[in-house]
Amino acid sequence: PAPGWSISADVVVVGSGVAGLTAALRCEAAGLTTVVVTKARLDDGSTRWAQGGIAAALGEGDTPEQHLEDTLVAGAGLCDEEAVRTLVTEGPDAVRRLISTGAHFDTDDEGDIHLTREGGHHRRRIAHAGGDATGAEVSRALVEAVRARGLRTIENALVLDLLTDSEGRTAGVTLHVMGEGQHDGVGAVHAPAVVLATGGMGQVFSATTNPSVSTGDGVALALRAGAEVSDLEFVQFHPTVLFLGADAEGQQPLVSEAVRGEGAYLVDGDGVRFMVGQHELAELAPRDIVAKGITRRMLEQGAEHMYLDARHFGAAMWEHRFPTILAACRANGIDPVTEPIPIAPAAHYASGGVRTDARGRTTVPGLYACGEVACTGVHGANRLASNSLLEGLVYAERIAADIAAARAADGLHARVPVPVPAPEKPAHPLLTPEARFAIQRTMTEGAGVLRSEESLARAADQLQRLRTEARDALEENGKTAEPGVDTWEATNLLCVARVLVAAARLREETRGCHWREDRAERDDANWRRHIVVRLNPDRS
Ligand code: SIN
Repeated sequence: PAPGWSISADVVVVGSGVAGLTAALRCEAAGLTTVVVTKARLDDGSTRWAQGGIAAALGEGDTPEQHLEDTLVAGAGLCDEEAVRTLVTEGPDAVRRLISTGAHFDTDDEGDIHLTREGGHHRRRIAHAGGDATGAEVSRALVEAVRARGLRTIENALVLDLLTDSEGRTAGVTLHVMGEGQHDGVGAVHAPAVVLATGGMGQVFSATTNPSVSTGDGVALALRAGAEVSDLEFVQFHPTVLFLGADAEGQQPLVSEAVRGEGAYLVDGDGVRFMVGQHELAELAPRDIVAKGITRRMLEQGAEHMYLDARHFGAAMWEHRFPTILAACRANGIDPVTEPIPIAPAAHYASGGVRTDARGRTTVPGLYACGEVACTGVHGANRLASNSLLEGLVYAERIAADIAAARAADGLHARVPVPVPAPEKPAHPLLTPEARFAIQRTMTEGAGVLRSEESLARAADQLQRLRTEARDALEENGKTAEPGVDTWEATNLLCVARVLVAAARLREETRGCHWREDRAERDDANWRRHIVVRLNPDRS
């Protein structure tokens, strides 16, 4: 359909989690006209679901250097050390600015921020809010600030594609908007700077901690726009997700690492603490090691899940410190005060994404990426727990500073809006909504916690079949699924799934959260490097 509406701004921010809203607030404060567009409501993304908290060297005796060390170890040789240094040195002040924006963190008896521990951290370093509802508090504070500052926002706006000018520079985005009055239908925001902050792609797997909106839209857009994407094979599986049955699909309740940080044990069906002796930090080893330990034990015992035992916390501590998790467990018929919690790993976080430099710039001029959608280099092969909200904060501020500097240098002049393509027939073959489930099952079976060339090749074939069917329908009889959120989401999921599987097949080693059964060892001689993908726009 031809675009029915268009508006212009200096910056359009796509996404409304910690990264997007921080970028938008800082851009607005720098005098840039800023529009936030988001696929559902402002607080519907992943940020709201974050439990554990924000890691930063805020405690007495802690230093950015120690935080750096823990981050590099978790990243298994693939972090960009300078990017991590930026994260950990700018992190504490970024958290303080978040507090000035209105976020309230839990404090101890002296009124200092209370810090907890999570996997891979050698000390208490995680600031949290509402016990285990950190993301909800961060989201609340940022959404309120955006509303108080009167920023222009468009909700229910699914981003379609990047607009570029004749020199290949960013010129805005096209959107499909539903039910938002004057901005209904397909339209465009013209802007010389676009910040992708669309979050992750957990919905590419059957069971994930991610909400249903996490469908890799930003990575798919960036790939279609010819931007470079890196490290997609490194999907982090959170070790302790409430087990609701082997066939459970969609978003699953997280049981925060902070529960282990406060002293919960992982046990098998016989009550044995199987992580003891596997790593010096036992249950608090980096996430990939714990997820592998759990999966191995499940395979050895033919069990569908393991247990997290925190009965010794007692009712008062559960209610005060972990009210969200307590409620989620009880809603599913489990009382962690009196019984161990059944848990299993599930897809949680994309450590890779759209490749950026230290200022959040992608390889397409004017296109920025921030938060889970980005690959800044801070996570390497495995993100350290609670570094994600921090990354969103720190790099969003850097992006806003870069856009403001570009404008000051007159590099961000208002450009003549480029024409929005109104193709007679759709440029992309869209998948049917049902394809989403086929993709999820394929990915869980072939590219989940445990991978091999055989399983990945099978997944690649199945994904290729879905793509060929959609392409043939379009090319042979001009037919494609009706454009809408669910068809675009399925299409984006297929796009990111194919690249993820291709990268996972290429990386013939086990490293971080990429676990190849057929290549059990880390291979530094050949694989201490990144897989960077850029699609030919005609073939995306
Ligand atoms: C958690 O609370 O366990 C999640 C923290 C994270 O993913 O960083």
